[in-house]
Amino acid sequence: MQTTALMPSPRFASAACLALSLCPAACSSSFPAPPPPVAPCSDGPCLKPSHVPLVDSLLAQLTLEEKLLLVAGTGFDTRGVERLGIPKLSMTDGPVGVRNGAATAFPAPVALAASFDPELVQRVGAALGRETRAKGKSVLLAPCVNLQRTPQGGRNFESFGEDPWLASRIATSYIRGVQSEGVAATVKHFAINNQETERMTVSVEVSERALHELYFPAFKAAVQEAGVLAVMCSYNRIGGTYACEHPGLLGDTLKQRWGFEGLVMSDWGATHSTAAAASAGLDLEMPTGEYFSVEKLHSALDDHSLNLQRLDDMVRRQLRVLHGLHLLPGQTPSRLSPAQVDPPEHRAINRQASREGLVLLKNTGSLLPLEAKQLKRVAVIGPRAAYVEGGGGSALVKPTYRVSPLDGLREALGSSVVVDYAPGEFSAEHLDLVPATALAPPGKPTEQGLLAQYYTGIDFSGTSVKSELVSSLDWRWDLGSPDGLPADQWSIRFTGTLTAPTTGRYILGLNSDDGSRLWLDGKLLVDNWGGHPMTLKTAEVELKAGVPHELRIDYYETILGAGLSFGWQRIDNNLLDQARKAARSADASIIVVGDTEREESEGIDRSSLLLPGNQEALLQAVLAENPRTIVVVATGAPVLMGAWLPKAPAVIQSWFGGQEFGHALADVLLGTVSPSGKLPVTLPKRWEDCPAFDNFPGSGGSVRYDEELLMGYRFFDTRKVEPEYPFGFGLTYSRFEISDFSVLPSDTEGNVSVSCSLRNAGSKRAAEVLQVYVHDAQSDRHRPEQELKAFARQELEAGESKRVTLRLAPSAFARYDLASHDFVRGAGAYEVRLGTSSRELPHRSTLRFP
Ligand code: BGC
Repeated sequence: MQTTALMPSPRFASAACLALSLCPAACSSSFPAPPPPVAPCSDGPCLKPSHVPLVDSLLAQLTLEEKLLLVAGTGFDTRGVERLGIPKLSMTDGPVGVRNGAATAFPAPVALAASFDPELVQRVGAALGRETRAKGKSVLLAPCVNLQRTPQGGRNFESFGEDPWLASRIATSYIRGVQSEGVAATVKHFAINNQETERMTVSVEVSERALHELYFPAFKAAVQEAGVLAVMCSYNRIGGTYACEHPGLLGDTLKQRWGFEGLVMSDWGATHSTAAAASAGLDLEMPTGEYFSVEKLHSALDDHSLNLQRLDDMVRRQLRVLHGLHLLPGQTPSRLSPAQVDPPEHRAINRQASREGLVLLKNTGSLLPLEAKQLKRVAVIGPRAAYVEGGGGSALVKPTYRVSPLDGLREALGSSVVVDYAPGEFSAEHLDLVPATALAPPGKPTEQGLLAQYYTGIDFSGTSVKSELVSSLDWRWDLGSPDGLPADQWSIRFTGTLTAPTTGRYILGLNSDDGSRLWLDGKLLVDNWGGHPMTLKTAEVELKAGVPHELRIDYYETILGAGLSFGWQRIDNNLLDQARKAARSADASIIVVGDTEREESEGIDRSSLLLPGNQEALLQAVLAENPRTIVVVATGAPVLMGAWLPKAPAVIQSWFGGQEFGHALADVLLGTVSPSGKLPVTLPKRWEDCPAFDNFPGSGGSVRYDEELLMGYRFFDTRKVEPEYPFGFGLTYSRFEISDFSVLPSDTEGNVSVSCSLRNAGSKRAAEVLQVYVHDAQSDRHRPEQELKAFARQELEAGESKRVTLRLAPSAFARYDLASHDFVRGAGAYEVRLGTSSRELPHRSTLRFP
């Protein structure tokens, strides 16, 4: 049995020191001095920015007051300067789809990473760019390139997995796509933002080497390869200093070392100071100017804790982004493709992306693909089968339509196959809206609906500004508000009665952004109070048919998004039996299990790695009834499969598949296309087997990354821990053969060529992802067993062969050196390994570097 009591290696015992030592200048002592109050660039330009004459001329025309107003947001926009024709930057979230009303909901980013298909991701990025423009926005707050350090991470679904090389390739394609459409991408959250527990304050203690080898590469590639226009600094602290006021992170690493010339904006509410943050390298405070207010900036200038030169730099960076988007006065607007939300071509890209993200983990006896002609009756089971789930928080997208697995299968199978649906367990997420017929205003039992009283302010004081009858409660105001109320700081009280049509036990739920509360007969039943994104809280209650209960719901909104729905559902105790019955009488059953925005969301980490609710028991019951059961796991991060996996003949990890999920799943289940996705993250057998087991979520306000360089497969492969499924793994319906493997030593530029012949030896068109890992045999004993350094997705017809060459740049062999604070390639032997997952690398060749 593998124990995971990882001792920090002596070399990294002073991780906190290294974490603070992002700035080489501060590295001389073992405990460097706290960051200086003024950036190292105070007496000279921070970086040598490319001077754009138009930007310089506009900067010269701005008054001090105008400059001060430009460096803080107004919610999701900057202010612009009308007098000079400088437009606002108008922002919207990312990364799954474009927020602010309905838009195409693409597969979660982790699914995009599972495609191992940068070219496809670039097309997704371009579609996102077009939809951003269609909504009148110029900045997309995406992609998120924080790695999946632990399976619990609430935002794992937003990430590109656990490997820096894969994340870099996918991120740069995503950014190129978005920016090709005249929209600025914002790579986030810089940096080391890997957990939601104490997300606003937690201090990450991480070594300098791990930063540069694991946590930075995707950001660096975004800057240096994709030319990303904006970077969002994160909520967390690093070695005790908030990321958005960390001079080593923002000033030294991002701007000086990597040469970033664009805009650094804070995450929403991640700014904690004025002069320290501005001097460290923060250019724009979002959402509003709490610290970058005109007043506070003035006093920082007055007491010289901030200098004018730095203020100019902050403004110049914003102007440079506008210039990059061709939005400044006098610029010829770029010629761009028409901007639309949800045009047919986005549907096609989305379906392909959803399909390519599906990872076939198991297919005993070639149960898949299902032969449609041989099916008479199919059972579609599970609480996630009749809906399309996505992770929550700022990445939650309102889709323009949803094709659930049930919809997709019904459509693909047609009327000749009976499709039975059984949810199998109650799903609190999808409560029905309480209809007007169950509601009556106070004192008017024969009427329908509730009395709504609207207040400015959030404490229901004074008289209401208006009142009206509403039939049911289901609103998403987004950044708006009901007529007659200000944009923020308002509240509504709903009163009347609630009467159930049928006697039984009911779930009542309030889903709201921000707070809501529900009283029944004077008793507080649902308490969803507090400032938060859309959050559902429920309570159970026994209701008798026809008996009215006095109802009161209070709702308030403070800032940013606003929404409220009031739902219910009668609890049906026979759901498990119905699922058993459906499975028993079917030729094949497809059970879709997984998480929802309740388990995976910004603001919370997952509380368990098991499937939530009763889904484990449901799986066991269905698998016992029908040996031809296909399990589809719709989560953004690994779940533990051990309890049911041995009994499941076929398993697909589908992630959150976006609004085309049902079509994509049917395509793969019925063999219209072969699955080709590969795991962008290791699936562990047990949480105790994971590298961060001893150090998550930290204690005393900080979390130590003592696993060092051994994240994900780097740990499993180095420590020889058996995963459930390894990184890079995924089956297809065909069979591939690799032969004639060769490694050609460096060309004049130091690139190594890895070649092989790939043959689709099966009978179906399919894709394989060739993966190249480098093993450092000699130069550095701290190095992980192997690291992914190149990959290539190849789609071949049945019987087709192809010669494929992958390139390893000199950096593929380099490691971060603490003495020079740079990457170096040590002398000695390196093994180049080629195969189809981190555990299937049969083709090996050794290279020696002097
Ligand atoms: C999230 C960001 C997001 C921002 C704006 C923050 O809470 O961390 O990822 O872009 O809100 O919605």
